[in-house]
Order: sequence, then structure tokens, then C-alpha cells
Amino acid sequence: MQRLRIKNILSEGNTGQAVNICGWVRTRRESKGIGFIALSDGSTQETLQLVVPEASQAFQKLIHCNTGAAIKATGLLKESPAQGQRFEVEVSGIEIFGDADPVSYPLQKKGHTLEFLREIGHLRPRTNTFGAVFRVRNILAEAVHEFFQCRGFIWVHTPIITASDCEGAGDLFTVTSLDLQKPPKGDNGDIDFTQDFFGKHAYLTVSGQLEAEFLAMSLGDVYTFGPTFRAENSNTSRHLSEFWMIEPEMAFADLKDDMQLAEEFFRFLCRKILEKGESDIAFLEKFYKNTSIAELKTLAEKPFVHISYTEAIKELEKSKEKFEFPVKWGLDLQSEHERYLTDKVFKGPVIVTDYPKEIKAFYMRLNPDEKTVAAMDILVPKIGEIIGGSQREERLEVLTERMRHAEIPFENMEWYLDLRRYGSAPHAGFGLGFERLVQYITGMSNIRDVIPCPRAPQTIKF
Ligand code: 4AD
Ligand code: MG
Repeated sequence: MQRLRIKNILSEGNTGQAVNICGWVRTRRESKGIGFIALSDGSTQETLQLVVPEASQAFQKLIHCNTGAAIKATGLLKESPAQGQRFEVEVSGIEIFGDADPVSYPLQKKGHTLEFLREIGHLRPRTNTFGAVFRVRNILAEAVHEFFQCRGFIWVHTPIITASDCEGAGDLFTVTSLDLQKPPKGDNGDIDFTQDFFGKHAYLTVSGQLEAEFLAMSLGDVYTFGPTFRAENSNTSRHLSEFWMIEPEMAFADLKDDMQLAEEFFRFLCRKILEKGESDIAFLEKFYKNTSIAELKTLAEKPFVHISYTEAIKELEKSKEKFEFPVKWGLDLQSEHERYLTDKVFKGPVIVTDYPKEIKAFYMRLNPDEKTVAAMDILVPKIGEIIGGSQREERLEVLTERMRHAEIPFENMEWYLDLRRYGSAPHAGFGLGFERLVQYITGMSNIRDVIPCPRAPQTIKF
């Protein structure tokens, strides 16, 4: 007899059916000679109630069924007389895989703070909260592929180790096999990376975009979905040093097409969560009140507000709010400004377009005004920027001029310029930070609580 998952039992079980279920004990109690166990197996928010009559041999095993123990129960599925559950299992046999010491087991019945749970990252997925978050994460990951695959986008695998350091997206982690105690030095005293593993200074990638561009310029519409790394010293609730990014790149597309894709994508993801993750969202809504099914339903339908960077600056200048950072045309929007726009002014997601060229990456297409670029950032309430994208500069002269201005070294970039030399075409894309998305959908207030093993400055325990 195979093990059945609690999720499947609850949705398609039949009374009288013999079942084998495996999981971890949440609670155990005894009443009037009957033992009760709430068992969780991670497949769903719900636990399954095991009923162990005194007459059954399994009753002797109850003493080992402490909270946290891993067990297998065999029995018959019954209609449950208790409220709030359809089935329970009348148990005839219990096998203990691994007991858990009730004194030292860190997950006691009382609620724990999210900070404490971060200290026990290896056990926190057993809690209702993290079970819900990681199941939602899974639904979203699957939906990402479904969205692009249904639209004929090709999933491409861009490298994690790269030699191009020019995204300008923050500091990079070096990848090296040099002896760090005695690295070889050149005449000028700098480390001689020609003697390193790749014969060049190599890094962990901050984005797959540049490679996705050459794949789009041959395959048409592509997307990446993989890990990216940033060594910025940002100790905030929305920054990770290792995070996953989804980056579609479309040939023969402009900024309008890019924004349309991003909006449709976002709405699709909201619909999928409502379809497949409603019970997990309902749990998170009830306990943390930072997400809501009603809000997701609105998001799944409503078009985003569009404003230009110039209009956004005007809106901020009008405001009576005391900002910590200055507001002035030409300066980047800080997260306090972004959140003012989404939370106070527009009360929902906002797409900001056409930023000054000086504050955006060199590859973004220069607008006819020659002051701004065809960029777009999507900002959402509570989090701020969730998507950053642009139409790419496809004109060789304009691009080389912008690279010169931004002091981008040409030596590793000839291949990128080749795309503008041979069969150049308008193209556009964006990057969605996957953890920021999961954070937004689940309402978790710290990004470290939506990835199993968060990486941040001074944080790499698990
Ligand atoms: O705006 P970013 O830096 O854009 C790029 O990397 C482009 N190459 C994307 C493209 O056009 N293909 O990053 C994109 C998104 C941000 O909007 C944010 O959601 C997320 O990545 N992000 C982070 N998420 C978590 N921790 C960090 N440190 C992040 N930095 C960016
Ligand atoms: Mg950005």
C-alpha cells in the first residue's frame, strides 16, 4: 500500500478506504481512553486527525508520538464527527520513524516570532506559516513557466559565473580559485587574474539579461529563471544577496510591449494563486493580515496606473510628506518615495517610465528627448520596486557613446556590440525579483522569510 498525501486524501478520499499516511506529529492528546494525533505532511495547510482506540495495538505507541515525531499510521478513513474536518483516520497500526524529545524540540505549541524561527531555519518549514509560504512559492514558480510556455517563450539557461561586470546593478561577488593568502600580483601590485581559473576576473552574475539578449536576437522570445547575486551591503527587509530573478526578453518589441507583458504576467500570477493557493493565502491573511484574497482578486483584474518619472517627481514635490531623501528631477526615487506613490497616492501598483538616463543602466534605449531612457519600473504597495525593465538600445553608435560615457570597458563587451552590428532589431525585457513577488503575494514583511536559506550580509547559517 502506497503512502497517500493528506492533500489528496482530503480532496479525493472515500470513507472506508484503507490508508497509509506518513508525517510529523503536530499535537497529541488523550481523552476517555482514545488517543488523538494531528498529523501534518507538508502537502497542505490542513492536518489530518488520527484516532487511536485503546483496544488497538497502536495505542502503546502513542507515548512516542511527541510533537515533531515522524510516524506512519495505517488505518481506515472515516467521516469525521468533529467540526472543520471532513475525514479522520481510525488507526490500527503506528510505526515510529523518529521520535522528538518533547523538552528540547524547538517548535513548541506556543507561537514563535519570525525572528526566532529564522534562527531555526532547518525546522521552520514545519510551521503553518512557512509551509504556506513555500507552497505559495512553488505555485508561483510553476505559474511563471506556464505563463511563458503558453505564449511560446523559450526558457534559456544563462550562466551563473560571468566575466561581464557591467550591469551596474550593485557590487559583485568574485569567483576565484586563487590562493587568497598569496594571490599572484602584476607589476602594478594588483591581483593578476590572468593566472586565475578562467584567465580573467570572474564574478557571480547579477542578472542574465545580457546573455538573454543574444538568445532573444536569435530565438525571438525567451526568458530566464535563475539565481542572481548582489554583494551590496543592504541590510533591509527587501534585499537578499542571493535571489531568483525571472527575465523575459523579446525581439521586435518596444517599451509598450514590455509593459503589457509585465502587467499580463503579474495578473496571471495573481489568478494562479487564487486558483491553487487559496487555503494558504487564507491562513496568512488570518494570522498576519498583510495579504488578502479580496486584494489579490482586485490585482488579478485591474490595470496598473502608468506615470512618467517626470510626473512622479511632480507628484512627490506636491506632497506635504517629510521625506528623508531629497526629491528633485535627476535624482533616483528612494523606496520611501516609491511607497508614497503606491501606498498613498495611487493605492495600488504603479508603472513609472522614462527615467533620466544618468540614473539608469547604459543599455536602456535613449528617448528622442536625449535626456531620458525607455525604462520602466513597476512599484507595488509596501515593497516598492518589484520589476525593472526597459527597451534596449539597438543603435550601435548611441550604445557605444553611452558605454563611453558610463566608462564601461569595451574589452568584454564586443560580443554585446556585435548584436548591434549584425541584424540589430528593437528588443525589450524586464526582471522580476521572485522573492519580492512571493513577499508581496504572501504579505510577509521580511524578504528573508520567503526563501528557505536567506543570504544577506553576515547571514549564511543554513
Ligand atoms: O532592477 P534590476 O536591477 O534589473 C535588472 O537586473 C535588469 N537586468 C532586469 C532586466 O531588464 N532583465 O533588478 C530587477 C528586479 C528588481 O525590480 C527587484 O524586484 C529584484 O530584481 N531585485 C532584488 N530582489 C531581492 N534582493 C535584491 N538585492 C534585489 N535587487 C533587485
Ligand atoms: Mg531596478
